[in-house]
Amino acid sequence: MLDRLPFPAPALRTIEDPTDGESDLLIVGVTEGGVREGGTHPSVLGRVDIDGRGWLDRCFSRGAFAGKLGETLLVANPATQGPAMVLLVGLGAGHGSRGDAFRAAATGIRRVTDRPRKRVDIALAESFPSSCHDAIVSGAMHGCEGQAIYQTDASIHVPETLAFVGIEDKAIRRGRTIGDAVNRTRRWVNEPASVIYPETFATEAREVAEEAGLEVEVWDEKRLEAEGCRAILAVGAGSTKPPRLVILRHRGGGDEPPLAIVGKGVTFDSGGLSIKPGDGMKDMKCDMAGAATVLGVMQAIAKLGIKKNVIGLCGLAENMISGESYKLGDVIETRSGTTVEILNTDAEGRVVLADVLDVAVQQQPCAIVDLATLTGACLVALGTEVAGLMTNDTELGRAVRGASDAEGEPVWELPMFELYDELIKGKVADIKNVGEGRWGGAITAAKFLERFVAEVPWVHIDIAGPAFADSPKPHRDAGATGVMVRSLIRWVEG
Ligand code: BES
Ligand code: MN
Ligand code: ZN
Repeated sequence: MLDRLPFPAPALRTIEDPTDGESDLLIVGVTEGGVREGGTHPSVLGRVDIDGRGWLDRCFSRGAFAGKLGETLLVANPATQGPAMVLLVGLGAGHGSRGDAFRAAATGIRRVTDRPRKRVDIALAESFPSSCHDAIVSGAMHGCEGQAIYQTDASIHVPETLAFVGIEDKAIRRGRTIGDAVNRTRRWVNEPASVIYPETFATEAREVAEEAGLEVEVWDEKRLEAEGCRAILAVGAGSTKPPRLVILRHRGGGDEPPLAIVGKGVTFDSGGLSIKPGDGMKDMKCDMAGAATVLGVMQAIAKLGIKKNVIGLCGLAENMISGESYKLGDVIETRSGTTVEILNTDAEGRVVLADVLDVAVQQQPCAIVDLATLTGACLVALGTEVAGLMTNDTELGRAVRGASDAEGEPVWELPMFELYDELIKGKVADIKNVGEGRWGGAITAAKFLERFVAEVPWVHIDIAGPAFADSPKPHRDAGATGVMVRSLIRWVEG
Protein backbone atom coordinates (compact mmCIF):
# COMPACT_ATOMS: atom_id res chain seq x y z
CA MET A 1 0.00 0.00 0.00
CA LEU A 2 2.71 2.49 0.92
CA ASP A 3 4.43 1.87 -2.39
CA ARG A 4 5.92 5.35 -2.54
CA LEU A 5 9.49 4.88 -1.29
CA PRO A 6 10.98 8.18 -0.10
CA PHE A 7 14.12 6.43 1.10
CA PRO A 8 14.77 3.25 -0.90
CA ALA A 9 16.53 0.46 0.96
CA PRO A 10 20.23 0.13 0.10
CA ALA A 11 21.71 -3.08 -1.31
CA LEU A 12 23.63 -4.87 1.45
CA ARG A 13 26.64 -7.11 1.05
CA THR A 14 29.70 -8.35 2.80
CA ILE A 15 33.28 -7.58 1.75
CA GLU A 16 36.69 -8.63 2.98
CA ASP A 17 38.91 -5.86 1.67
CA PRO A 18 37.75 -2.25 1.86
CA THR A 19 40.89 -1.01 0.14
CA ASP A 20 39.94 -2.45 -3.27
CA GLY A 21 39.34 1.01 -4.72
CA GLU A 22 35.62 0.58 -5.42
CA SER A 23 34.33 2.32 -2.34
CA ASP A 24 33.42 6.00 -2.04
CA LEU A 25 33.79 6.06 1.66
CA LEU A 26 34.94 3.92 4.56
CA ILE A 27 33.38 4.11 8.03
CA VAL A 28 35.68 3.08 10.88
CA GLY A 29 35.08 3.01 14.64
CA VAL A 30 37.73 4.42 16.96
CA THR A 31 37.67 4.27 20.77
CA GLU A 32 38.98 6.97 23.07
CA GLY A 33 41.74 4.54 24.01
CA GLY A 34 42.55 4.10 20.33
CA VAL A 35 43.06 7.83 19.90
CA ARG A 36 45.38 8.15 22.88
CA GLU A 37 49.01 7.42 22.19
CA GLY A 38 49.77 3.74 22.42
CA GLY A 39 46.14 2.71 21.99
CA THR A 40 45.28 0.11 19.41
CA HIS A 41 43.41 0.93 16.19
CA PRO A 42 41.19 -1.40 14.25
CA SER A 43 43.41 -3.15 11.72
CA VAL A 44 41.48 -1.68 8.81
CA LEU A 45 42.40 1.80 10.00
CA GLY A 46 46.04 0.81 10.10
CA ARG A 47 45.83 -0.18 6.45
CA VAL A 48 44.35 3.16 5.47
CA ASP A 49 46.75 4.98 7.71
CA ILE A 50 49.81 3.26 6.31
CA ASP A 51 48.74 4.24 2.82
CA GLY A 52 48.51 7.83 4.00
CA ARG A 53 51.84 7.74 5.87
CA GLY A 54 50.55 8.46 9.32
CA TRP A 55 48.26 11.38 8.59
CA LEU A 56 45.48 9.97 10.71
CA ASP A 57 47.72 9.60 13.74
CA ARG A 58 48.76 13.22 13.26
CA CYS A 59 45.07 14.22 13.30
CA PHE A 60 44.71 12.33 16.57
CA SER A 61 47.77 13.81 18.22
CA ARG A 62 46.65 17.32 17.26
CA GLY A 63 43.33 16.73 18.97
CA ALA A 64 41.19 16.75 15.80
CA PHE A 65 39.26 13.72 17.04
CA ALA A 66 38.89 12.26 20.53
CA GLY A 67 36.88 9.09 19.86
CA LYS A 68 34.03 10.18 22.14
CA LEU A 69 30.77 8.27 21.77
CA GLY A 70 28.77 9.76 18.88
CA GLU A 71 31.66 11.96 17.65
CA THR A 72 32.45 11.84 13.93
CA LEU A 73 35.23 13.16 11.71
CA LEU A 74 34.98 13.02 7.92
CA VAL A 75 38.34 13.27 6.17
CA ALA A 76 39.64 12.83 2.63
CA ASN A 77 42.02 9.92 2.22
CA PRO A 78 45.28 11.38 0.84
CA ALA A 79 46.21 7.99 -0.63
CA THR A 80 45.65 7.49 -4.36
CA GLN A 81 44.05 4.09 -3.74
CA GLY A 82 41.30 2.75 -1.55
CA PRO A 83 38.30 4.71 -0.34
CA ALA A 84 38.27 8.39 -1.30
CA MET A 85 36.89 9.44 2.07
CA VAL A 86 37.16 8.07 5.59
CA LEU A 87 34.62 8.68 8.34
CA LEU A 88 35.80 8.09 11.88
CA VAL A 89 33.05 7.27 14.37
CA GLY A 90 33.81 7.61 18.06
CA LEU A 91 33.07 4.54 20.19
CA GLY A 92 33.81 6.08 23.59
CA ALA A 93 35.15 3.55 26.07
CA GLY A 94 34.28 0.82 23.58
CA HIS A 95 32.21 -1.54 25.72
CA GLY A 96 31.04 -3.39 22.65
CA SER A 97 27.33 -3.73 23.38
CA ARG A 98 24.59 -4.30 20.79
CA GLY A 99 23.12 -0.88 21.54
CA ASP A 100 26.51 0.77 20.92
CA ALA A 101 26.98 -1.19 17.68
CA PHE A 102 23.55 -0.14 16.43
CA ARG A 103 24.15 3.50 17.29
CA ALA A 104 27.68 3.65 15.89
CA ALA A 105 26.50 2.31 12.53
CA ALA A 106 23.45 4.59 12.48
CA THR A 107 25.56 7.62 13.41
CA GLY A 108 28.09 6.81 10.71
CA ILE A 109 25.50 6.37 7.98
CA ARG A 110 23.56 9.48 8.96
CA ARG A 111 26.74 11.54 8.67
CA VAL A 112 27.31 10.44 5.06
CA THR A 113 23.76 10.54 3.61
CA ASP A 114 24.14 14.26 2.88
CA ARG A 115 24.89 13.47 -0.77
CA PRO A 116 24.48 10.51 -3.13
CA ARG A 117 27.15 7.83 -2.75
CA LYS A 118 27.55 4.58 -4.64
CA ARG A 119 29.26 2.32 -2.16
CA VAL A 120 29.87 2.97 1.51
CA ASP A 121 32.01 0.44 3.38
CA ILE A 122 31.33 -0.08 7.06
CA ALA A 123 34.27 -1.46 8.99
CA LEU A 124 32.79 -1.56 12.48
CA ALA A 125 32.74 -5.32 12.89
CA GLU A 126 36.18 -5.68 14.42
CA SER A 127 35.30 -3.18 17.15
CA PHE A 128 32.49 -5.43 18.39
CA PRO A 129 32.02 -9.11 19.27
CA SER A 130 30.33 -11.18 16.56
CA SER A 131 27.12 -11.29 18.64
CA CYS A 132 26.76 -7.57 17.79
CA HIS A 133 27.33 -7.84 14.05
CA ASP A 134 23.68 -7.99 13.01
CA ALA A 135 23.06 -4.87 15.14
CA ILE A 136 25.65 -3.03 13.02
CA VAL A 137 23.62 -3.94 9.93
CA SER A 138 20.25 -2.90 11.37
CA GLY A 139 21.79 0.28 12.77
CA ALA A 140 23.12 1.17 9.32
CA MET A 141 19.66 0.63 7.86
CA HIS A 142 18.17 2.76 10.62
CA GLY A 143 20.43 5.60 9.46
CA CYS A 144 18.82 5.41 6.00
CA GLU A 145 15.29 6.27 7.20
CA GLY A 146 13.88 9.55 8.49
CA GLN A 147 10.74 11.58 9.02
CA ALA A 148 10.96 13.89 5.96
CA ILE A 149 8.97 11.48 3.80
CA TYR A 150 7.10 14.20 1.93
CA GLN A 151 9.92 16.53 0.94
CA THR A 152 10.30 17.00 -2.79
CA ASP A 153 14.07 16.97 -2.55
CA ALA A 154 15.13 13.99 -0.47
CA SER A 155 17.02 15.04 2.64
CA ILE A 156 18.56 11.60 3.04
CA HIS A 157 20.57 10.19 0.14
CA VAL A 158 20.60 6.47 0.77
CA PRO A 159 23.86 4.96 -0.56
CA GLU A 160 23.31 2.49 -3.40
CA THR A 161 25.29 -0.21 -1.60
CA LEU A 162 26.33 -0.73 2.00
CA ALA A 163 29.27 -3.12 2.20
CA PHE A 164 30.05 -4.58 5.61
CA VAL A 165 33.66 -5.48 6.23
CA GLY A 166 33.99 -8.83 7.96
CA ILE A 167 30.30 -9.50 8.64
CA GLU A 168 29.02 -12.91 7.60
CA ASP A 169 26.03 -13.27 5.28
CA LYS A 170 23.95 -14.77 8.05
CA ALA A 171 24.38 -11.71 10.28
CA ILE A 172 23.66 -9.44 7.32
CA ARG A 173 20.40 -11.26 6.62
CA ARG A 174 19.35 -11.09 10.25
CA GLY A 175 20.34 -7.43 10.55
CA ARG A 176 18.44 -6.60 7.37
CA THR A 177 15.27 -8.32 8.63
CA ILE A 178 15.38 -6.50 11.97
CA GLY A 179 16.39 -3.17 10.42
CA ASP A 180 13.56 -3.42 7.91
CA ALA A 181 11.05 -4.16 10.68
CA VAL A 182 12.23 -1.13 12.67
CA ASN A 183 12.17 1.16 9.64
CA ARG A 184 8.72 0.03 8.54
CA THR A 185 7.43 0.64 12.04
CA ARG A 186 8.88 4.16 11.87
CA ARG A 187 7.36 4.75 8.47
CA TRP A 188 3.85 3.74 9.63
CA VAL A 189 4.17 6.10 12.59
CA ASN A 190 5.61 8.96 10.50
CA GLU A 191 2.81 8.78 7.94
CA PRO A 192 0.10 11.35 8.71
CA ALA A 193 -3.23 10.26 10.16
CA SER A 194 -4.89 11.01 6.82
CA VAL A 195 -2.85 8.15 5.32
CA ILE A 196 -2.70 5.69 8.22
CA TYR A 197 -6.08 5.20 9.89
CA PRO A 198 -7.66 1.98 11.17
CA GLU A 199 -8.69 0.63 7.74
CA THR A 200 -5.40 1.45 6.01
CA PHE A 201 -3.41 0.12 8.95
CA ALA A 202 -5.35 -3.12 8.59
CA THR A 203 -4.54 -3.17 4.86
CA GLU A 204 -0.85 -2.75 5.70
CA ALA A 205 -1.17 -5.61 8.18
CA ARG A 206 -2.73 -7.85 5.52
CA GLU A 207 0.12 -7.08 3.13
CA VAL A 208 2.76 -7.69 5.77
CA ALA A 209 1.07 -10.97 6.68
CA GLU A 210 0.99 -12.07 3.05
CA GLU A 211 4.63 -11.15 2.49
CA ALA A 212 6.02 -12.57 5.73
CA GLY A 213 3.80 -15.63 6.04
CA LEU A 214 1.57 -14.72 8.99
CA GLU A 215 -2.08 -15.58 9.52
CA VAL A 216 -4.19 -12.45 9.71
CA GLU A 217 -7.69 -11.65 10.86
CA VAL A 218 -9.29 -8.19 10.73
CA TRP A 219 -12.35 -7.38 12.79
CA ASP A 220 -14.40 -4.59 11.21
CA GLU A 221 -17.05 -2.60 13.09
CA LYS A 222 -19.70 -5.30 12.59
CA ARG A 223 -17.45 -8.01 13.97
CA LEU A 224 -16.36 -5.72 16.83
CA GLU A 225 -20.04 -5.28 17.65
CA ALA A 226 -20.69 -9.01 17.50
CA GLU A 227 -17.67 -9.66 19.72
CA GLY A 228 -18.83 -7.15 22.34
CA CYS A 229 -15.88 -4.80 21.80
CA ARG A 230 -17.91 -1.83 22.99
CA ALA A 231 -14.89 -0.02 24.39
CA ILE A 232 -13.03 0.06 21.05
CA LEU A 233 -16.24 1.11 19.33
CA ALA A 234 -16.87 3.88 21.87
CA VAL A 235 -13.46 5.47 21.32
CA GLY A 236 -13.88 5.25 17.55
CA ALA A 237 -17.45 6.52 17.53
CA GLY A 238 -16.61 10.21 16.99
CA SER A 239 -14.66 9.52 13.81
CA THR A 240 -15.79 8.98 10.23
CA LYS A 241 -13.02 6.35 10.12
CA PRO A 242 -14.36 3.14 11.70
CA PRO A 243 -12.22 1.17 14.18
CA ARG A 244 -10.54 -2.16 13.53
CA LEU A 245 -8.90 -4.98 15.46
CA VAL A 246 -6.05 -6.77 13.72
CA ILE A 247 -4.97 -10.21 14.90
CA LEU A 248 -1.78 -11.72 13.50
CA ARG A 249 -0.60 -15.25 14.16
CA HIS A 250 2.83 -16.78 13.84
CA ARG A 251 2.92 -20.53 14.36
CA GLY A 252 6.44 -21.70 15.00
CA GLY A 253 6.08 -23.49 18.32
CA GLY A 254 3.91 -26.56 17.75
CA ASP A 255 1.34 -27.09 20.53
CA GLU A 256 2.87 -24.65 23.02
CA PRO A 257 0.72 -21.82 24.34
CA PRO A 258 1.36 -18.55 22.51
CA LEU A 259 2.95 -15.31 23.59
CA ALA A 260 0.69 -12.33 22.95
CA ILE A 261 1.86 -8.85 22.04
CA VAL A 262 -0.71 -6.09 22.10
CA GLY A 263 -0.44 -2.57 20.70
CA LYS A 264 -2.35 0.68 21.18
CA GLY A 265 -3.32 1.88 17.72
CA VAL A 266 -5.00 5.25 18.14
CA THR A 267 -4.27 6.53 14.65
CA PHE A 268 -5.01 10.08 15.76
CA ASP A 269 -5.66 11.34 19.28
CA SER A 270 -7.40 14.69 19.30
CA GLY A 271 -8.39 14.03 22.91
CA GLY A 272 -12.03 13.75 21.85
CA LEU A 273 -14.45 16.01 23.74
CA SER A 274 -11.71 16.45 26.37
CA ILE A 275 -9.88 18.08 23.50
CA LYS A 276 -6.12 18.58 23.52
CA PRO A 277 -4.58 22.00 22.93
CA GLY A 278 -2.76 22.32 19.60
CA ASP A 279 0.67 21.81 21.08
CA GLY A 280 -0.33 18.52 22.65
CA MET A 281 -2.16 17.38 19.51
CA LYS A 282 0.29 18.15 16.72
CA ASP A 283 2.26 14.88 17.00
CA MET A 284 -0.71 12.65 17.86
CA LYS A 285 -0.41 10.71 14.59
CA CYS A 286 2.19 8.87 16.69
CA ASP A 287 -0.46 7.45 19.02
CA MET A 288 -0.53 4.19 17.06
CA ALA A 289 3.18 3.52 17.68
CA GLY A 290 2.35 0.54 19.91
CA ALA A 291 0.32 -1.11 17.14
CA ALA A 292 3.02 -0.31 14.56
CA THR A 293 5.60 -1.90 16.86
CA VAL A 294 3.49 -5.05 17.11
CA LEU A 295 3.20 -5.23 13.31
CA GLY A 296 6.95 -4.69 12.88
CA VAL A 297 7.81 -7.33 15.48
CA MET A 298 5.39 -9.88 13.96
CA GLN A 299 6.91 -9.31 10.52
CA ALA A 300 10.42 -9.91 11.85
CA ILE A 301 9.42 -12.98 13.88
CA ALA A 302 7.90 -14.59 10.81
CA LYS A 303 10.82 -13.73 8.54
CA LEU A 304 13.36 -14.96 11.10
CA GLY A 305 11.36 -18.19 11.47
CA ILE A 306 11.41 -17.99 15.27
CA LYS A 307 10.27 -21.25 16.81
CA LYS A 308 7.55 -19.86 19.04
CA ASN A 309 3.82 -19.31 18.76
CA VAL A 310 3.12 -15.59 18.85
CA ILE A 311 -0.12 -13.65 18.50
CA GLY A 312 -0.02 -9.93 17.71
CA LEU A 313 -3.10 -7.80 18.41
CA CYS A 314 -3.52 -4.18 17.28
CA GLY A 315 -6.45 -2.14 18.63
CA LEU A 316 -7.17 0.58 16.07
CA ALA A 317 -9.39 3.62 16.48
CA GLU A 318 -9.33 7.34 15.77
CA ASN A 319 -10.20 9.57 18.75
CA MET A 320 -12.21 12.44 17.26
CA ILE A 321 -15.04 14.83 17.92
CA SER A 322 -18.56 14.70 16.46
CA GLY A 323 -22.15 14.26 17.55
CA GLU A 324 -21.37 10.56 17.87
CA SER A 325 -18.37 10.94 20.17
CA TYR A 326 -18.28 9.10 23.44
CA LYS A 327 -18.88 11.48 26.30
CA LEU A 328 -17.86 12.26 29.85
CA GLY A 329 -20.07 10.35 32.23
CA ASP A 330 -20.71 7.57 29.73
CA VAL A 331 -20.49 4.07 31.11
CA ILE A 332 -19.13 1.36 28.84
CA GLU A 333 -19.57 -2.32 29.47
CA THR A 334 -16.29 -3.61 28.10
CA ARG A 335 -15.93 -6.96 26.35
CA SER A 336 -14.86 -8.64 29.60
CA GLY A 337 -17.96 -7.37 31.42
CA THR A 338 -16.07 -4.89 33.60
CA THR A 339 -17.86 -1.53 33.44
CA VAL A 340 -15.93 1.68 32.89
CA GLU A 341 -16.92 5.24 33.66
CA ILE A 342 -15.53 7.76 31.17
CA LEU A 343 -14.34 10.87 32.98
CA ASN A 344 -11.89 12.05 30.33
CA THR A 345 -12.16 11.10 26.66
CA ASP A 346 -8.43 11.82 26.28
CA ALA A 347 -7.65 8.76 28.41
CA GLU A 348 -8.75 6.68 25.41
CA GLY A 349 -5.79 4.34 25.00
CA ARG A 350 -6.60 2.31 28.10
CA VAL A 351 -10.25 2.08 26.98
CA VAL A 352 -9.23 0.62 23.60
CA LEU A 353 -6.75 -1.73 25.26
CA ALA A 354 -9.38 -3.00 27.72
CA ASP A 355 -11.08 -4.90 24.89
CA VAL A 356 -7.88 -5.86 23.09
CA LEU A 357 -6.38 -7.35 26.26
CA ASP A 358 -9.57 -9.33 26.79
CA VAL A 359 -9.33 -10.78 23.29
CA ALA A 360 -5.69 -11.61 24.02
CA VAL A 361 -6.57 -13.37 27.30
CA GLN A 362 -9.13 -15.50 25.46
CA GLN A 363 -6.28 -16.92 23.36
CA GLN A 364 -4.87 -18.44 26.58
CA PRO A 365 -1.37 -17.01 26.15
CA CYS A 366 1.44 -17.80 28.59
CA ALA A 367 2.39 -14.11 28.64
CA ILE A 368 1.11 -10.77 27.38
CA VAL A 369 3.25 -7.73 26.60
CA ASP A 370 1.45 -4.55 25.61
CA LEU A 371 3.00 -1.43 24.09
CA ALA A 372 1.28 1.92 24.24
CA THR A 373 1.92 5.64 23.94
CA LEU A 374 -0.32 5.77 26.98
CA THR A 375 0.43 8.70 29.28
CA GLY A 376 2.04 12.10 29.37
CA ALA A 377 2.68 11.25 33.02
CA CYS A 378 5.22 8.62 31.94
CA LEU A 379 7.10 11.37 30.10
CA VAL A 380 7.06 13.48 33.25
CA ALA A 381 8.39 10.56 35.29
CA LEU A 382 11.08 9.17 32.98
CA GLY A 383 11.74 11.73 30.25
CA THR A 384 11.76 11.27 26.50
CA GLU A 385 14.32 8.47 26.15
CA VAL A 386 13.10 5.88 28.64
CA ALA A 387 10.02 3.68 28.48
CA GLY A 388 8.04 2.79 31.60
CA LEU A 389 7.54 -0.86 32.48
CA MET A 390 4.77 -2.08 34.74
CA THR A 391 3.95 -5.69 35.42
CA ASN A 392 1.94 -8.16 37.49
CA ASP A 393 4.74 -10.75 37.22
CA THR A 394 8.30 -10.18 38.48
CA GLU A 395 9.79 -12.97 36.37
CA LEU A 396 8.28 -11.75 33.11
CA GLY A 397 9.25 -8.17 33.94
CA ARG A 398 12.83 -9.32 34.42
CA ALA A 399 12.83 -11.17 31.09
CA VAL A 400 11.56 -8.14 29.16
CA ARG A 401 14.01 -5.89 31.01
CA GLY A 402 16.84 -8.26 30.12
CA ALA A 403 15.96 -8.06 26.44
CA SER A 404 15.73 -4.26 26.41
CA ASP A 405 19.01 -3.92 28.34
CA ALA A 406 20.72 -6.18 25.82
CA GLU A 407 19.46 -4.09 22.89
CA GLY A 408 20.24 -0.77 24.56
CA GLU A 409 16.63 0.43 24.63
CA PRO A 410 16.25 1.67 28.19
CA VAL A 411 13.13 0.89 30.22
CA TRP A 412 12.51 1.54 33.90
CA GLU A 413 10.05 -0.19 36.15
CA LEU A 414 7.34 1.72 37.99
CA PRO A 415 5.62 0.10 41.00
CA MET A 416 2.20 -1.53 40.90
CA PHE A 417 1.41 -1.51 44.64
CA GLU A 418 -2.11 -2.52 45.55
CA LEU A 419 -2.62 0.86 47.20
CA TYR A 420 -2.99 2.42 43.76
CA ASP A 421 -6.05 0.28 43.03
CA GLU A 422 -8.40 2.55 44.88
CA LEU A 423 -7.42 5.50 42.69
CA ILE A 424 -9.34 4.04 39.75
CA LYS A 425 -12.46 2.89 41.63
CA GLY A 426 -15.62 4.16 39.94
CA LYS A 427 -18.56 5.92 41.57
CA VAL A 428 -21.12 4.65 39.07
CA ALA A 429 -19.26 1.82 37.33
CA ASP A 430 -16.58 -0.69 38.41
CA ILE A 431 -13.67 1.55 37.45
CA LYS A 432 -13.07 4.98 35.93
CA ASN A 433 -10.72 5.79 33.11
CA VAL A 434 -8.66 8.37 35.05
CA GLY A 435 -6.94 8.38 38.44
CA GLU A 436 -7.42 10.89 41.25
CA GLY A 437 -5.87 14.02 39.75
CA ARG A 438 -2.63 13.79 37.81
CA TRP A 439 -0.46 12.09 40.38
CA GLY A 440 0.96 8.71 39.44
CA GLY A 441 -0.75 8.93 36.05
CA ALA A 442 1.40 6.29 34.34
CA ILE A 443 0.70 3.84 37.15
CA THR A 444 -3.05 4.45 37.42
CA ALA A 445 -3.26 3.84 33.65
CA ALA A 446 -1.41 0.54 34.11
CA LYS A 447 -3.66 -0.33 37.06
CA PHE A 448 -6.64 0.13 34.73
CA LEU A 449 -5.09 -2.22 32.15
CA GLU A 450 -4.30 -4.80 34.84
CA ARG A 451 -8.04 -5.27 35.37
CA PHE A 452 -8.29 -6.80 31.88
CA VAL A 453 -5.44 -9.36 31.89
CA ALA A 454 -7.01 -11.77 34.41
CA GLU A 455 -4.28 -14.02 35.84
CA VAL A 456 -2.04 -13.98 32.79
CA PRO A 457 1.56 -12.83 33.39
CA TRP A 458 1.64 -9.40 31.79
CA VAL A 459 4.01 -6.55 31.10
CA HIS A 460 2.86 -3.09 30.08
CA ILE A 461 5.37 -0.80 28.36
CA ASP A 462 4.47 2.88 28.18
CA ILE A 463 6.39 4.25 25.18
CA ALA A 464 4.87 7.76 25.22
CA GLY A 465 8.38 9.19 25.74
CA PRO A 466 10.70 7.32 23.38
CA ALA A 467 8.31 6.43 20.50
CA PHE A 468 8.41 9.81 18.83
CA ALA A 469 11.25 12.34 19.08
CA ASP A 470 11.05 16.13 18.93
CA SER A 471 14.60 16.68 17.78
CA PRO A 472 17.23 14.67 15.93
CA LYS A 473 20.32 13.02 17.45
CA PRO A 474 23.51 11.92 15.72
CA HIS A 475 22.19 8.33 15.55
CA ARG A 476 18.59 9.05 14.55
CA ASP A 477 16.28 11.52 12.90
CA ALA A 478 13.48 13.20 14.82
CA GLY A 479 10.03 11.64 14.47
CA ALA A 480 9.25 7.96 14.90
CA THR A 481 12.04 5.91 16.49
CA GLY A 482 10.80 2.32 16.20
CA VAL A 483 11.68 1.88 19.87
CA MET A 484 11.17 -1.60 21.39
CA VAL A 485 10.95 -3.46 18.08
CA ARG A 486 14.46 -4.86 18.61
CA SER A 487 13.87 -5.56 22.30
CA LEU A 488 10.64 -7.45 21.70
CA ILE A 489 12.14 -9.57 18.93
CA ARG A 490 14.87 -10.50 21.41
CA TRP A 491 12.38 -11.21 24.17
CA VAL A 492 10.29 -13.48 21.93
CA GLU A 493 13.42 -15.29 20.79
CA GLY A 494 14.90 -15.75 24.25
N1 BES B 1 -1.77 9.57 23.70
C1 BES B 1 -1.80 10.25 24.94
C2 BES B 1 -0.50 10.14 25.72
C3 BES B 1 0.72 10.77 25.09
C4 BES B 1 1.15 12.01 25.47
C5 BES B 1 1.47 10.07 24.15
C6 BES B 1 2.27 12.58 24.91
C7 BES B 1 2.60 10.63 23.59
C8 BES B 1 3.00 11.87 23.97
C9 BES B 1 -2.92 9.68 25.81
O1 BES B 1 -4.01 9.18 25.13
C10 BES B 1 -3.40 10.77 26.68
O2 BES B 1 -3.91 11.73 26.19
N2 BES B 1 -3.25 10.59 27.98
C11 BES B 1 -3.69 11.56 28.94
C12 BES B 1 -4.35 10.82 30.07
C13 BES B 1 -5.04 11.72 31.06
C14 BES B 1 -6.22 12.42 30.42
C15 BES B 1 -5.50 10.90 32.25
C16 BES B 1 -2.46 12.32 29.42
O3 BES B 1 -1.42 11.71 29.58
O4 BES B 1 -2.58 13.54 29.61
MN1 MN C 1 -5.44 10.72 24.71
ZN1 ZN D 1 -3.73 8.58 23.22
